[in-house]
Amino acid sequence: MARRLEGIATPRILDLGSGTGSNLRATAPLLGESQEWTLVDYDPNLLEEAARALTAWADEARAIGDSLVLVKDGKNIGVSFRVADLNRELDAVLEKKPDLVTASALFDLISASWMRDFARKVLATGATFYTVLTYDGRDEFKPPHPFDEPVMRATLVRQSANGVVSTQPWDANAPRLLNFPEPSRFHF
Ligand SMILES: C[S@@+](CC[C@H](N)C(=O)[O-])C[C@H]1O[C@@H](n2cnc3c(N)ncnc32)[C@H](O)[C@@H]1O
Repeated sequence: MARRLEGIATPRILDLGSGTGSNLRATAPLLGESQEWTLVDYDPNLLEEAARALTAWADEARAIGDSLVLVKDGKNIGVSFRVADLNRELDAVLEKKPDLVTASALFDLISASWMRDFARKVLATGATFYTVLTYDGRDEFKPPHPFDEPVMRATLVRQSANGVVSTQPWDANAPRLLNFPEPSRFHF
């Protein structure tokens, strides 16, 4: 993925269902010196939290209107935020002509028909596509709730049914888990 973007001076990166920006924090260090991210989520509170978390994560952060200009480990990272419902506004979101479309922990939430439509549309943009869902076996809920454990168990059962390789879920030493079917299992 990083190699594909190498020739682009400032790649435009679209992070769908960005939540609080964890995908940016994990992926930006793998990319070039200059990057332009748009974080998209339908929950404005999460995008506000993303701005706070990214500001704390960066070595330097400057707000320009609703956007951020970050410096992290010598990389210049522009970040803008967009509240949009991907069920209804995907076409408008993709109009940004992204070089990379990415999402983390999103595609377990969507239907097969949405995925088919999405795949066609991303293909039409010519963008590189990168997605990931990782779970290291640790979880923490704030504030704690009596349903935390049953809900977590139900999630793990569902993930197992969907092919997630799982070790002991509450083992702090659990290896990183990777859930991604072989490409041959996708049908667009
Ligand atoms: C499991 S979280 C993953 C968040 C983040 N990408 C991460 O890896 O930490 C899924 C995210 O998708 C967002 N989301 C779910 N459905 C959406 C929709 N229809 N349009 C936009 N965002 C959506 C949620 O608000 C949430 O932030």
